[in-house]
Amino acid sequence: MFVREALRTGLQMLKESAVPSPELAAELLLMHALGCDRGRLHSHPEQALSQEAAELYLKLLAERTTGKPTQYITGRQQFWGLDFEVTPDVLIPRPETEHLVEAVLELARGGAKTGDLFRVADVGAGSGCIALALASELPNTEIYATDISPAALRVAAQNAARLGLTDRVKFKEDDLLTAFLAEGQLATLDFVVSNPPYVGPAETDWVQREVREFEPRLAWEGPGDGNEIYRRLFPQAHSALKPGGCVVVEIGYLKGESVKSLLGAGWTQVKVLPDLAGIPRVVIAQKA
Ligand SMILES: C[S@@+](CC[C@H](N)C(=O)[O-])C[C@H]1O[C@@H](n2cnc3c(N)ncnc32)[C@H](O)[C@@H]1O
Repeated sequence: MFVREALRTGLQMLKESAVPSPELAAELLLMHALGCDRGRLHSHPEQALSQEAAELYLKLLAERTTGKPTQYITGRQQFWGLDFEVTPDVLIPRPETEHLVEAVLELARGGAKTGDLFRVADVGAGSGCIALALASELPNTEIYATDISPAALRVAAQNAARLGLTDRVKFKEDDLLTAFLAEGQLATLDFVVSNPPYVGPAETDWVQREVREFEPRLAWEGPGDGNEIYRRLFPQAHSALKPGGCVVVEIGYLKGESVKSLLGAGWTQVKVLPDLAGIPRVVIAQKA
């Protein structure tokens, strides 16, 4: 089998199984089977696959037709231009979460004096994508990243090691910031950031099969009415932030007003920022 033919076969198999973005999935799986990049794939369409590579590619395609996300098959996802290891223990980092990173960088760079040290908490770290993207951009930053899932924290710690950021990003098992505050860390942070699980019970039917059957439920399904994590996190964030510090959270579809209403007293400069599609995506509030 040649590269061109392999891509055609993959596209057909994936289309027949109604896999979303079948061209991209076929390309990524073939790149993974051949251990090459996209440039090499398209510049050598006549290259023959070894029998071993062809068998591996067909096996990967068969896995993808079950609904298993491409990223869990290849074990990789790009976020903020960085390469992350992903396993079924962590949510696959989403491009829309880059808006949250962008919002924090804008706030940090806008108010910073050269040499300022930022202390940040990332609540619900998952793969570590937010914490590690921020650490890669802000050299004078210490990040305390929590997750309730020990398995997710192991993946995040491996990502930190691969990206050479273990000295500035510390991962801890915690229920939101409960243990952090219990250690007496009051009014010590410049930012509390979070992309919490926020899909409510009324929305679970709209969730794609790939997410529902393969991504960890703990990572996407919001407890209670879907807003429970915000309800618990905002008072904790208020205690942990310095005056003037900010909480920055990702929100679900059309949740801007309901999440804002959960902030309560003691906040100022409340903003809801849209993503590139104009959908409200990030809520920011500053501790008064
Ligand atoms: C939507 S995922 C976000 C992962 C990653 N930050 C990202 O943006 O891709 C939410 C994460 O919150 C974690 N989580 C759920 N409940 C939590 C809690 N009570 N305390 C800390 N983390 C929690 C989940 O295990 C999951 O890793």
